[in-house]
Amino acid sequence: MDAPHTPIVTARLRLDALVATDAAALFAYRGDEAVARYQGWRPADEAEAARFIDEQSRLGFRTPDSWAQLAIRDRSSGDLLGDLGAHFPANADDPIEFGVSLRPDRQGHGYAREAMAALLDLAFGEWGYRRSVASVDPRNVASIALLRSLGYRQEAHHVESYRFRGEWVDDVIYAMLAREWRSSSR
Ligand SMILES: CC(C)(COP(=O)(O)OP(=O)(O)OC[C@H]1O[C@@H](n2cnc3c(N)ncnc32)[C@H](O)[C@@H]1OP(=O)(O)O)[C@@H](O)C(=O)NCCC(=O)NCCS
Repeated sequence: MDAPHTPIVTARLRLDALVATDAAALFAYRGDEAVARYQGWRPADEAEAARFIDEQSRLGFRTPDSWAQLAIRDRSSGDLLGDLGAHFPANADDPIEFGVSLRPDRQGHGYAREAMAALLDLAFGEWGYRRSVASVDPRNVASIALLRSLGYRQEAHHVESYRFRGEWVDDVIYAMLAREWRSSSR
């Protein structure tokens, strides 16, 4: 993946491309049971994390109908704190989707919110999206708190709508419009 035109810099964070040297850190938290609990991707070992980074490096950033996974780093040390996935729709009129994962020891500090806010500013500003959505398991309370704190509204609750790791699970859809983001107090 090309890094986004420039790294995205916030008060405490830098968002840029994952690189080969991130594999061990990426595996350490993405392989963690609690972090992976509600997620489709859980690397089995460091080599799988390295392959994922390699695949991402071949994908242009903002390729239509693809997920791009950005590194969330401590702005001063460069340490990998987590990652932020963005799904760029095939049709630019369709919603952009996001998902965040943080290292367990870096949760609860507002980093996910800070990273998401920066991406929402870009998505609803320069990139011109009109709507953003997120799909979440209703048991994933931290993720729901994050979405609500950003201003996403619940739009649907699909009951036992898909089979995940052998279990029928619910899927809750949250959404926010560009104009709602612009008018939110933040
Ligand atoms: C979803 C996830 C990223 C949310 O992380 P998080 O750390 O709870 O979210 P934030 O970074 O926004 O932090 C929020 C907390 O930081 C606090 N906070 C906010 N701004 C802060 C700041 N500037 N300084 C310190 N703390 C702050 C908030 O009060 C909140 O604390 P609380 O949970 O005690 O109320 C995390 O739970 C995770 O990685 N989960 C596993 C992966 C996953 O399931 N992802 C979702 C896939 S759909």
